[in-house]
Amino acid sequence: MDEKKLIKKALEAKENAYVPYSNFHVGAAILTEDGKVYTGCNIEIASYSPTICAERTAVFKAISEGSKKVKTIAIAGESEFTYPCGVCRQVLREFGQDVKIIIVNSEDDYREHTLEELLPYSFGPKDLKKTESGEGNV
Ligand code: THU
Repeated sequence: MDEKKLIKKALEAKENAYVPYSNFHVGAAILTEDGKVYTGCNIEIASYSPTICAERTAVFKAISEGSKKVKTIAIAGESEFTYPCGVCRQVLREFGQDVKIIIVNSEDDYREHTLEELLPYSFGPKDLKKTESGEGNV
């Protein structure tokens, strides 16, 4: 799966966004380290707080299907370049410290970042290693 294909998948996933309140469509596509692809869109709920971003939909689908690590994520939103929110950055951090993040404007116009760039000095599983319950990823 090359980057172009992942970008296309993110743009396709955006079409499924359920956004009756914001009308802000977002799609995401993830390539996991075991070579699988998962997509997600944002889903809004009338009482607002249960709303979930496209990125987290895709990550949770991947993890719940048995994949362990995110390698690359492509994100296509409604603004020219839609960057992941802070919560999604933290969720990505949990499942891959070296995630490549592709912010998509169109199939031919996109930017690449590392998670380290978007979430420097992150708090993560490593910080909990010394405690009894610190059994997450590194
Ligand atoms: N949203 C995403 O799905 N991903 C982002 O990176 C930014 C925000 C969603 C949440 C909500 O449904 C809508 O966009 C407006 O905030």
